[in-house]
Amino acid sequence: MNILVTGGAGFIGSHVVDRFIEEGHNVIILDNLSSGKEDNVNKKAKFYKMDIRDKEIEDIIFKRENIDCINHHAAQISVRNSVDDPIYDGEINILGSLNLLQNAVKYGIKRVIFASTGGAIYGEQDYFPADERHPLRPVSPYGVAKLSVEGYLYFYHTAYNLDYTVLRYANIYGPRQDPHGEAGVVAIFTQKLLNNEQPVINGDGEQTRDYTFVGDIVEANSLAFAKSFSGIFNIGTGVECSVNELYNRLTKLINSGIVPLYGQPKPGEQRRSVLDWNKINGVSGWSPRSSLDEGLKETIGYFRKEVSKVN
Ligand SMILES: NC(=O)c1ccc[n+]([C@@H]2O[C@H](COP(=O)([O-])OP(=O)(O)OC[C@H]3O[C@@H](n4cnc5c(N)ncnc54)[C@H](O)[C@@H]3O)[C@@H](O)[C@H]2O)c1
Repeated sequence: MNILVTGGAGFIGSHVVDRFIEEGHNVIILDNLSSGKEDNVNKKAKFYKMDIRDKEIEDIIFKRENIDCINHHAAQISVRNSVDDPIYDGEINILGSLNLLQNAVKYGIKRVIFASTGGAIYGEQDYFPADERHPLRPVSPYGVAKLSVEGYLYFYHTAYNLDYTVLRYANIYGPRQDPHGEAGVVAIFTQKLLNNEQPVINGDGEQTRDYTFVGDIVEANSLAFAKSFSGIFNIGTGVECSVNELYNRLTKLINSGIVPLYGQPKPGEQRRSVLDWNKINGVSGWSPRSSLDEGLKETIGYFRKEVSKVN
């Protein structure tokens, strides 16, 4: 099958590309390399360095490639940038997505798999873990944009019969995550600890997240394509972990004695976030396979190699 992976040069998208290629699919990548890297691009994929907002993607990609499925991972991923500049965020995350969906309809594409967010879409949770029926109260333009694309997918399905799977990811970590961004605390802490630098924890470190290994995300994308199940599904572990606990696990696994610095809490930062994954389990058998320590070990192994390349 011909699968277009947007954001296929990024952290999660590149792992998804690798899996689809292993499975024998023909993969086309659309990525503008704004945060993705050419090094992440699988050599067996066809790579278009373009922007999802470009009108020319129609002539250059959609007219030529006979695409069966769009796996949509390209996005402006910074919550903070979305607060600073909601228009820019909306241009990429809403209008860029609509550009893809319009082409999907025009070129008879059957299915869209969309990388949404469970972390940002539910807002402060009323109960733990949040299932898909939890009220939707995003507190950032990033979360609002993801929610609006979910709404558009429903519209395209009812109006044009376009099938879709929305995967609402928890906090994803693993090899290839950018350690220089503002999010991706596992990558940031790991890189710093391996460089013998002191990481900063924002606030008291008791804020919690649902840290999910990228390999489990890949599996969810593979199943969503292979089994063609439709609807909206959380992807997480259901296990809440505080930033302090995460830090302690990392220092133990790295064998580092570095203590963290505690900084100012980030205004508007969510206190607790954790997702219930029973719905996707019911339709596909998916469950999180990597324990936190297993995923962290693999991530540390990757960053050790990266750090040794630089030094
Ligand atoms: N990492 C997480 O914890 C997490 C959680 C929830 C949802 N997500 C979603 O998963 C997807 C992938 O995130 P990631 O963590 O791999 O981030 P990433 O920044 O590594 O990947 C995003 C990719 O999209 C590309 N891109 C950005 N704007 C583009 C544009 N206008 N046109 C074409 N390409 C563009 C970037 O170059 C990059 O390769 C995103 O949609 C993100 O919102 C991620």
